[in-house]
Amino acid sequence: MKFLIVLALIAAAAAEHKPLTHEQADQVRHAWDKVKHNEVEILHEIFKEHPDIQNKFPQFAGKDLETIKGEASFATHATRIVSFLTEILSLAGNPDTIPAIKTRVNEMGQNHRNRGVTKEQLNEFRHTLTDYVKHHGSLDGDAEQAWNQAFDCIYEVIFSNLDGHPVV
Ligand code: HEM
Repeated sequence: MKFLIVLALIAAAAAEHKPLTHEQADQVRHAWDKVKHNEVEILHEIFKEHPDIQNKFPQFAGKDLETIKGEASFATHATRIVSFLTEILSLAGNPDTIPAIKTRVNEMGQNHRNRGVTKEQLNEFRHTLTDYVKHHGSLDGDAEQAWNQAFDCIYEVIFSNLDGHPVV
């Protein structure tokens, strides 16, 4: 029995994604800096490609995307998402700030679990966001690898909340 527990612990540790080095975090921040002021465009792209995500928002569900795009509540929400990512990325690449990142991402994951957001929707979001950065900023080679590693780490924490077992 003890042996099985040890094996399970090793497997859990191995599954954890590697935190970013300082250099990788700089590469990700650099890519993000090029698009982070396009918050409305980013949210518009996500809703356009995935109406199921738009429909999870009580204030936007079933509404014409081109109309709501011009509304203040749309800009407010777009800014909330972008600021959240900017905050997390500003903390990345430093072992001392990993607990702070986990706290913030656990909070976000818990809120989204309570809203019934699915892993599939979160993956759709990630995919569209990554494409946006590729096409409107730049993302290739080591920077792309670092970007994917960053999202693997963030999503591991979000998904652990959706599963009901937050990473601590
Ligand atoms: C993929 C599907 C997603 C759905 C359906 C979704 C849905 C929502 C909804 C309904 C709200 C509440 C809005 C309000 O009360 O005005 C919200 C808030 C928020 N979302 Fe999302 N969201 C998604 C993904 C994400 C992702 C990937 C991020 C960040 C990377 C994010 C960041 C936030 C933040 C920072 C807030 C405000 C704080 C909070 O209440 O949690 N969301 N989201």
